[in-house]
Amino acid sequence: MAARMWSKKVIPSFQQWCKIRSYSNEVRTVTMIPGDGIGPEISEAVQQIFQASKVPIDWEPVDVTPVKGPDGRTSIPPQAIESMNKNKIGLKGPLATPIGKGHMSLNLALRKAFNLYANVRPCKSLEGYKTPYEDVDLVTIRENTEGEYSGIEHTIVDGVVQSIKLITEQASKRVAEFAFEYAKANNRTTVTAVHKANIMRMSDGLFLKCCRDTAENHRDIRFNEMYLDTVCLNMVQDPTQFDVLVMPNLYGDILSDLCAGLIGGLGVTPSGNIGQDGVAIYESVHGTAPDIAGEDKANPTALLLSAVMMLRHMGLGDHANRIESAALAVIREGKSLTGDLGGNSTCSTFTKAICEKIEYMD
Ligand code: NAI
Repeated sequence: MAARMWSKKVIPSFQQWCKIRSYSNEVRTVTMIPGDGIGPEISEAVQQIFQASKVPIDWEPVDVTPVKGPDGRTSIPPQAIESMNKNKIGLKGPLATPIGKGHMSLNLALRKAFNLYANVRPCKSLEGYKTPYEDVDLVTIRENTEGEYSGIEHTIVDGVVQSIKLITEQASKRVAEFAFEYAKANNRTTVTAVHKANIMRMSDGLFLKCCRDTAENHRDIRFNEMYLDTVCLNMVQDPTQFDVLVMPNLYGDILSDLCAGLIGGLGVTPSGNIGQDGVAIYESVHGTAPDIAGEDKANPTALLLSAVMMLRHMGLGDHANRIESAALAVIREGKSLTGDLGGNSTCSTFTKAICEKIEYMD
């Protein structure tokens, strides 16, 4: 999947691939944002599993608790920004979003700081873990920087507020191009643009036009366009009809969680936020789970599978395959599952079972 995550402009030539392969045993540093709540427990689990697979990675842990700048505004600490700028690749646990505390969501701040314009979430049924849906294998690609999440809100008069949905040609084309390149690199056949251009004629209309124009340059991938409400209806009726879906920010936020529900929930769904110039932050999409934090009950699968996506992005496909196979085998066997997957094992027992599987593979 290393190649899968690269856009056309940066797909390496054969010579570059050889160079990348030769990097593969070099130790690379990855920024680690353990996060809040269950974040430290699941981050520790991932680190143990990486160690069992002898992945050539040094972790650089950073704290992203907001700090107050000289202007009185809170922002991500400079050390975290420096670490990401240097390493380019990060793995992130969940972050608590304090409501009404005067600073923006840290997840949003990270996306803005590193221009992480595409959120990619593969949703694939896990063998051996039964849900009402079988054979789901789709990918949601969400525009990550604008739309309703542009943060432009104001009070017009008392009792009337306005929130601006910002859609630009530049960001829409960028994410559409990414979706087609992703489809191609991953042997996918169809990209569906999800929109409401029948109602939001200008904003979603522009997004859709950008997708249509981009599709013209990628005739080898089938292009489809569907209203968001129709996608939701069809998705719960038969998700196997979908392949790659690309959509504006808010729709992507909601639809990607719905898709995660089809395969077992947020505890098993990986995610990557892709930016320009090779910057990417991989993250678990669930929250901090304050109800079980510190109790060794968390399921580390989502963060682990996100880390597997990260390894492929870094050209460490062998490690990715080994870790993924071990994790899926432990889930399939069903003996060491955490509570959210219907078992009664702890996070540590589940992690140990995966480590043992990896050691057995060697
Ligand atoms: P949540 O995802 O933290 O929890 C919802 C339910 O799922 C809880 O019952 C929790 O125990 C369970 N759960 C979540 N992840 C799990 C895991 N890995 N293993 C086992 N069970 C798991 O959602 P909630 O309660 O709405 O949010 C809590 C905090 O997390 C809030 O501050 C919210 O803003 C933040 N959050 C952060 C996200 C991120 O950093 N990407 C995403 C979503 C929420």
